Amino acid sequence: MAVQSKKIGIIGGGISGIAAAKQLSKFEPVVFEATDSIGGVWKHCSYRSTKLQTPRCDYEFSDFPWTQRDNTSFPSYQEILDYLYSYATYFDVLKFVKFNSKVVEIRYIGDSESAARAEYGSLLPDRPVWEVGVQTTQSETIQWYAFEFVVICTGKYGDIPAIPKFPQNKGPEIFKGKVVHTIDYCKLNEEESTQLLKGKKVVIFGYKKSAIDLAVECAEANQGPEGEACTMVVRTLHWTVPHYSVWGLPFYMFYSTRASQYLHERPNQGFLRTLLCHMLSPMRSAVSKIIESYLTWKLPLEKYGLKPDHPFEEDYASCQMAILPENFFSEADKGKIAIKRSTSKWWFWEGGVQFEDGSRLDADVVVLATGFDGKQKLKAIIPDPFRSLLEFPSGMMPLYRGTINPLIPNMAFVGYIESVSNLHTAEIRCKWLSRLVDNQFRLPSVDKMLEQTMKEMEIMRRTTRFYKRSCISTFSINHSDEICKEMGWSSWRKKSWIAEAFSPYNSQDYEEEK
Ligand SMILES: Cc1cc2nc3c(=O)[nH]c(=O)nc-3n(C[C@H](O)[C@H](O)[C@H](O)COP(=O)(O)OP(=O)(O)OC[C@H]3O[C@@H](n4cnc5c(N)ncnc54)[C@H](O)[C@@H]3O)c2cc1C
Ligand SMILES: NC(=O)c1ccc[n+]([C@@H]2O[C@H](COP(=O)([O-])OP(=O)(O)OC[C@H]3O[C@@H](n4cnc5c(N)ncnc54)[C@H](OP(=O)(O)O)[C@@H]3O)[C@@H](O)[C@H]2O)c1
Repeated sequence: MAVQSKKIGIIGGGISGIAAAKQLSKFEPVVFEATDSIGGVWKHCSYRSTKLQTPRCDYEFSDFPWTQRDNTSFPSYQEILDYLYSYATYFDVLKFVKFNSKVVEIRYIGDSESAARAEYGSLLPDRPVWEVGVQTTQSETIQWYAFEFVVICTGKYGDIPAIPKFPQNKGPEIFKGKVVHTIDYCKLNEEESTQLLKGKKVVIFGYKKSAIDLAVECAEANQGPEGEACTMVVRTLHWTVPHYSVWGLPFYMFYSTRASQYLHERPNQGFLRTLLCHMLSPMRSAVSKIIESYLTWKLPLEKYGLKPDHPFEEDYASCQMAILPENFFSEADKGKIAIKRSTSKWWFWEGGVQFEDGSRLDADVVVLATGFDGKQKLKAIIPDPFRSLLEFPSGMMPLYRGTINPLIPNMAFVGYIESVSNLHTAEIRCKWLSRLVDNQFRLPSVDKMLEQTMKEMEIMRRTTRFYKRSCISTFSINHSDEICKEMGWSSWRKKSWIAEAFSPYNSQDYEEEK
């Protein structure tokens, strides 16, 4: 039995949920946040050393500049939390948030015929379409709320660890040491984390940002002659970047201006543009090669067998570029970080881990920096038949404008497509969403929306082998252009042609139009 009926419910109080609450504030939404804090991954999924890896001025709400926005240092996770709290307080958004309130179930109570036909009517039809079951930390009883429209902002990362599968009797249960996932490591204070790593043989699985940062924390805890080396087991190589400049040129020049993105494919391009893109492909490769040559010169990638075979562009186009902590290779040079390349299967034995070729690594502690299973969070709450449509028909989430699943009525998803700044990517879509639910424009037909999402996925597929991450970084400006057009905004947002072509686009360019 639903106890409260409101227009809009938002699930999750991370960056996306708070951005959605701010943009939809005129509807007085209810935000359910499972924990006692806003901030999501910045609160619950950060190490002591975690910093933003996007330039500060890109990870900024369009109407709330960082106090020191020209400071080129990367803010710590705590600074990001403080910034988000200031934003939420300034815009009086916290009053909408129900903390310690986990959504455990969602039920569809809308018109089943229109759901079966996957029709989009009015997004606020004046009657509830979804019921949301919420469990608080104070009570076992599930409280039910009814909403006309639900915005899902539960995050792609954090909360649910992706744990590798092991053959029977070869899992963590037979290992005499400790196994932790990075999400558990985030919960440790400084003393506990040092204790876990210091003087121990640590094996880290993963070679992405969580793994790289952890290797450095592990090395730092193991300074001195009694310290042990931490071994990173690297399955897939990726390009890592020491800072945002390449051969003295600012990094944004390569991918974040209109001129640079002009070289890349985008959805809905006509025949001539497709032809042009084909002809420009040597230039795209040249850009990628310039960056690769810089990284290979600047970092000892070849010495450590860490030079990827694939082009840099493929990592950039899949939002996988990790900023390397300054001392990563100096710790490797000191012997505190060792690298083991292995693409094979692995499992546990009593004293450590073993690989398919029979080689073994002794270990006291095994850290799984193996990422997260964000889809599970969705699958746990979205009811059938919609659950089975989440990734229909291509195995990726079809999200029109990165927000609306054409097959799921009266529901939006924020924070599921990525770009260089996921804050900006979420915020501009929330602006679009607020106008959409306000009936300032209407969605195209379901078929048209699906067609658009297919085109975007096709471009991702053609650009990078890692396309499943749903990243739009090589055509992000075009994506925002389309959003602006639908909102009735001008899509060219700079003051001059020169700036339009050669200066980077970020959230400040999308300040509210009066
Ligand atoms: C360590 C780390 C560093 C990152 N660094 C960057 C970076 O430098 N630049 C960048 O652009 N991106 C970065 N990202 C990506 C990051 O995920 C986004 O930038 C952004 O913070 C995601 O916000 P979100 O609100 O979408 O998700 P989350 O931060 O995951 O927030 C989701 C919220 O939903 C809540 N929730 C989940 N399920 C439920 C439920 N059933 N009921 C109620 N509440 C629920 C969670 O408690 C959480 O508070 C990073 C990610 C991680 C993990
Ligand atoms: N701002 C920051 O400082 C910061 C810090 C941490 C995380 N993040 C962000 O958070 C997100 C998640 O990052 P993440 O590093 O936690 O996860 P991730 O990007 O999903 O990386 C998981 C890593 O684990 C490896 N892996 C997975 N299963 C494995 C297995 N069975 N055996 C061996 N290796 C395995 C993967 O290898 P394959 O590539 O071969 O699959 C990959 O290297 C990313 O968007 C990242 O940018 C940002």
